[in-house]
Amino acid sequence: MRILRIPNRSVFALLFLFCLSSSFLYFIYVAPGLVNTYLFMMQAQGIMIRESVKTMGSQMYEQVVRSTYAKMNSSLNGTDYPDDLNDSETYLQTTTFLPEDFTYQANLMCPERLPSMKGPINVNMTEISLEEIQELFAKDPYIQIGGHWKPRDCIPRWKVAILIPFRNRHEHLPILLKHLIPMLQHQRLEFAFYVIEQAGFHPFNRAMLFNVGFMEALKDMDWDCVIFHDVDHIPENDRNYYGCGQMPRHFAAKLDKYMYLLPYDEFFGGVSGLTVEQFRKINGFPNAFWGWGGEDDDLWKRVQFAGLTVTRPGGDLGKYKSVPHHHRGEVQFLGRYALLRHSKERQKLDGLQNLKYFPNITVEALFKNITVNLTPELAPVRHY
Ligand SMILES: *[C@@H]1O[C@H](CO)[C@@H](O)[C@H](O)[C@H]1NC(C)=O
Ligand SMILES: *[C@@H]1O[C@H](CO)[C@@H](O)[C@H](O)[C@H]1NC(C)=O
Ligand SMILES: *[C@@H]1O[C@H](CO)[C@@H](O)[C@H](O)[C@H]1NC(C)=O
Ligand SMILES: *[C@@H]1O[C@H](CO)[C@@H](O)[C@H](O)[C@H]1NC(C)=O
Ligand SMILES: *[C@@H]1O[C@H](CO)[C@@H](O)[C@H](O)[C@H]1NC(C)=O
Ligand SMILES: *[C@@H]1O[C@H](CO)[C@@H](O)[C@H](O)[C@H]1NC(C)=O
Repeated sequence: MRILRIPNRSVFALLFLFCLSSSFLYFIYVAPGLVNTYLFMMQAQGIMIRESVKTMGSQMYEQVVRSTYAKMNSSLNGTDYPDDLNDSETYLQTTTFLPEDFTYQANLMCPERLPSMKGPINVNMTEISLEEIQELFAKDPYIQIGGHWKPRDCIPRWKVAILIPFRNRHEHLPILLKHLIPMLQHQRLEFAFYVIEQAGFHPFNRAMLFNVGFMEALKDMDWDCVIFHDVDHIPENDRNYYGCGQMPRHFAAKLDKYMYLLPYDEFFGGVSGLTVEQFRKINGFPNAFWGWGGEDDDLWKRVQFAGLTVTRPGGDLGKYKSVPHHHRGEVQFLGRYALLRHSKERQKLDGLQNLKYFPNITVEALFKNITVNLTPELAPVRHY
């Protein structure tokens, strides 16, 4: 009996000590985290409320501006709205399209406003498998592996790499390709698709995926224009020309989820495009944004600091339908407001310049799959 009891007692004692120390550790390590999270949530709620007030304000403002413009010149008729009035060349081009009987010439540059660009696209959000899509486009003998296509009846004005950041959205990709391929063919652009998939367990880093995609795409060929395309944004008008220009372009000006209004003037999310030269000049996207939100605002600032401006398609051209999803369990990046305050200092240090990555690459029928495991150590930045 005695012999048994003593070890028993010490086991209980050990157990007790263990519980005590682990609850102690719990309070040291976990509780402050909980408090922090709670404070962050409160802060974020405050910011969200402020943002939505701001959004409502800008929406009302835009409506006033729009109706004033509509009254001023009813002949504008929704083909192009104020955004592009500054960009007068684009404005003229968007309004005059070539006639149906236009003849292509293989030795001449493709025009920007082709008769094949009919305007509104019938968006079909019905889920479809990747196999079905591959089968559908396999009928086109000119679509090469990796979704690479170029026009044969004229020289493409732009060689466009379409970069799509990706994680857990397997049902969205075929829907996007189904709409985008015909649209880009109508626009007579040379193009290919790069799906950059984030492996591992770190929060989604959309911006860093774009940087990786940019570096990898340029190893394939000398693309001159790069489109940064969310997988859940489906264009509604094939006159939204996916070529680049003198200035960076924000294509997704009007999203159905924002009632087709620009949420705020500096909004640069969803779908944007820069020439290779412009993207290099701004040192790419920032790598420091882990979780959703903020990286597009930082890109906007980078563009401004580089002395560039952003143009947008006018009227209905920039309309997009978004596949509803609610961020699919991806965390929001709460540190973004702090980072955004130091955009300028960070621009030179964080971007294409400090990027390291180790991709696994496979080539599919319609896209190149670049899978990377991203961690903060791959793009070290000074802590602000
Ligand atoms: C209205 O539009 C027409 C043609 O688009 C143009 O000729 C005219 O100058 C415009 N008027 C104003 C007030 O902008
Ligand atoms: C302009 O808009 C009016 C009414 O919205 C429409 O009836 C007319 O056909 C439009 N004109 C053109 C050239 O699109
Ligand atoms: C267009 O806007 C930019 C900046 O907002 C300005 O510098 C430029 O003069 C404008 N161009 C025209 C033609 O109004
Ligand atoms: C939408 O796409 C699905 C799947 O490809 C197809 O079965 C359906 O007929 C399409 N709907 C329309 C209206 O085109
Ligand atoms: C990309 O390749 C990885 C394997 O490297 C695979 O797990 C993933 O499903 C592929 N993604 C797509 C969109 O095909
Ligand atoms: C790449 O492939 C190797 C070998 O199959 C695997 O061990 C590694 O985890 C993969 N990396 C990523 C990021 O998927």
